[in-house]
Amino acid sequence: MSIRMDNKVCMITGPTSGIGQGTAIELAKLGAKIVLVGRDTDKCERVKQDILRLGGLEPIVIQCDLSSLSEIERAANEFLALDSPLHVLMNNAGAINRSRSVTTDGLEETIAVSYFASFKLTQLLLDCLRKSGNARILNITSNSYFLGRLNFDDLNFEKKYGPLRAYSTSKLAMIQFSRKLAEHLKDADVTVNAVHPGVIYTNIGIGNNEGILKIIADFFWSRIAKPIEYAYKTTLYAATSEELNGVSGQYLTGEKVGNLFSIAKRDDVRDELWDMSQKITGVSFT
Ligand SMILES: NC(=O)c1ccc[n+]([C@@H]2O[C@H](COP(=O)([O-])OP(=O)(O)OC[C@H]3O[C@@H](n4cnc5c(N)ncnc54)[C@H](OP(=O)(O)O)[C@@H]3O)[C@@H](O)[C@H]2O)c1
Repeated sequence: MSIRMDNKVCMITGPTSGIGQGTAIELAKLGAKIVLVGRDTDKCERVKQDILRLGGLEPIVIQCDLSSLSEIERAANEFLALDSPLHVLMNNAGAINRSRSVTTDGLEETIAVSYFASFKLTQLLLDCLRKSGNARILNITSNSYFLGRLNFDDLNFEKKYGPLRAYSTSKLAMIQFSRKLAEHLKDADVTVNAVHPGVIYTNIGIGNNEGILKIIADFFWSRIAKPIEYAYKTTLYAATSEELNGVSGQYLTGEKVGNLFSIAKRDDVRDELWDMSQKITGVSFT
C-alpha cells in the first residue's frame, strides 16, 4: 500500500511516456514534488500540466538528452543549483533500438541511455540523496536481464548487435550496478534496488519503429503485455513502501523481492563493470 509522499522530492528520468509518466503522476497524487528529467521539453510540459490539473505540486522540469554524458552533468548541476533535497531517484529512461546507433560519446545508445546515464546521474546526485535522508534509488531493469551478456571486450556491441541483446545487457548492468552501489552505501541512509515493472504495454520498441512494422509490433504488444496500471504497483511499492525501509541491493518485482539468476550474481563481473563504468562516465564513487 502506498503512503503519502508530502515533503518528498522525486526525480524521474524518461517521464514523458509509459511507466515513467504514469509513476510521476501517481507520486504527484500522493503529494510528492516531482522533478521531470526528459529530452523533449514540450512533452515534459504536458506531463507538468497533467500533474497541475490533478492538483499536484508544480513539477520542476529539467531538459536532458540522457544519451549525452555532458548533458547529464549539466542537468545534474541544474538540479543541484536549486538546493533542493532529493528523496527518490528513479532511473527509468530506456529504449530498444532496431538498429545499432552510437551516441556523441561513442557509446552504443541503448546501454548509454539505460545504464551509463543512470550510473553518472546517480553519482552526481549521491551527496544530495545522502543529505536528504531516507532516500531511495530505483534502477529500472527488466526480467529479460538474463539474456544479457556483460562482455567487456564488446560493451559497445561493435562485433555483435541485436536489439534484445543490447537492451537485456543494459538491464543486467542495472542490476549489477544496484548490487555494487548497495554495498557502497551500506552505512548511508540511502537504499538502491533494481526494479522490474512487469511486461507492460507502453511505447517501448514501438515508438522507434515505422510503417507496417510499427503496426505489427503494436498489435502483438497490446495483446501480450499488461496495462500500464500494473507497472505503478511495482514502482510505487519500490518508491514508497515502508516494508522496504533499509532493503537494498535487491531485485524487486511485483511488490516483492525476487530471486536473481546466477548471471546477475557474479561479483567479479559486478566489480569489473563498476570500475569500467567509472572510467567511461568520468565519475568516481569514492
Ligand atoms: N514496458 C515494459 O514491458 C518494460 C518491461 C521492463 C522494463 N521496462 C523499462 O521501463 C522503463 C520505461 O519504459 P517504458 O516501457 O515506459 O517505455 P516508453 O514508453 O518508451 O518510455 C521511455 C521513456 O524514456 C525516455 N527516453 C528514451 N531515450 C531517451 C534519451 N536519450 N534521453 C532522455 N529520455 C529518453 C523516453 O522519452 P521520449 O518520450 O522523449 O521518447 C520516454 O520518456 C525502461 O527503462 C524500460 O526498459 C519496461
